[in-house]
Amino acid sequence: MHRFLDLADFSRDQVADLIDLARRLQEHPEPHALAGKILGLLFMNPSLRTLSSFQAGMMRLGGTSFVVTPGQGTWNVETRDGTVMNGGAAEHVREAIPVLASYCDALGLRAFAEGKDLAADLAETPFNLMANLCPKPFVNLESAVNHPCQALADWKTMDDLHVPRAGKFVLSWVYHPRALPLAVPAAALHMAAQRGMEVVVLRPDGYALPEPIMAKARAAATASGGTVSETTDRATALAGAHVLYAKEWGSPACYGNAEAEAALRQPLVDWRVQESWFAGARPDCHFMHCLPVRRNVAVADAVLDGPRSQVIREAANRMVVQMAVLYRLLKG
Ligand code: CP
Repeated sequence: MHRFLDLADFSRDQVADLIDLARRLQEHPEPHALAGKILGLLFMNPSLRTLSSFQAGMMRLGGTSFVVTPGQGTWNVETRDGTVMNGGAAEHVREAIPVLASYCDALGLRAFAEGKDLAADLAETPFNLMANLCPKPFVNLESAVNHPCQALADWKTMDDLHVPRAGKFVLSWVYHPRALPLAVPAAALHMAAQRGMEVVVLRPDGYALPEPIMAKARAAATASGGTVSETTDRATALAGAHVLYAKEWGSPACYGNAEAEAALRQPLVDWRVQESWFAGARPDCHFMHCLPVRRNVAVADAVLDGPRSQVIREAANRMVVQMAVLYRLLKG
């Protein structure tokens, strides 16, 4: 394994192998497995979980890491090709990535969507440019429309909870004061489809996920024996659900237009997960969210603090599965 860019690049057997390795490292720690190895972490955007779980995971395997956050003690970095660099950025990724790669054994990159041009973000052009500039093993720490580390952790979380492979997985849009990226909903949708689940996307009018994201998930479902559908009706979506996975995302129809987006979402403030949402779900229906989450905006306190919530387990699994990814990238 040389790159961890997209869970779709791996077969279900390969995903199972990573999760098995993650469990093995949990139960039988290998504190010297990556002794002498260095992980570089380039964060173009903020993080709590991804940053700390990669650093902690690397240390638990005997390796070490460094973090670069452009503009915060290091030069601002330009990501676009062909730009006249007479603005705030003093350095281009065409130099920065190979330089950082020369200092480490593997590099991770977080670079969110620009949020201006949907087609450009769906194409992942800047992220792919940066990934291709790195000659070392490379990890996607969240790109414009993907978050494979979160998806792998979420898959393991459902396995830990004995959620059936063919169980019902509801990905629900929830309210946020502004548009958020498509990376997590796209990754969660594909992950559940690839796992073979009955996947339902629950979202208000105007918030259908872009067709390329839906088509990719439908293809994964076809290959795994799962299904993918979408609805605006909460009761239909949640009837018999094993998992409610909540996520905030922006309207593809209003992409890059904050004014239109604000007008569209303003009447949707009641799309906040509450215990009443689970009325028709299985009694043991789990609640999942990748975090961070705005309490009592996206999700009510009673759900986050109640027995359904798996949000801390998901976050804890981030470190565990990423240790398996690092192990495969750096040790084989
Ligand atoms: N879920 C997730 O990726 O969290 P951070 O943005 O804090 O890394």
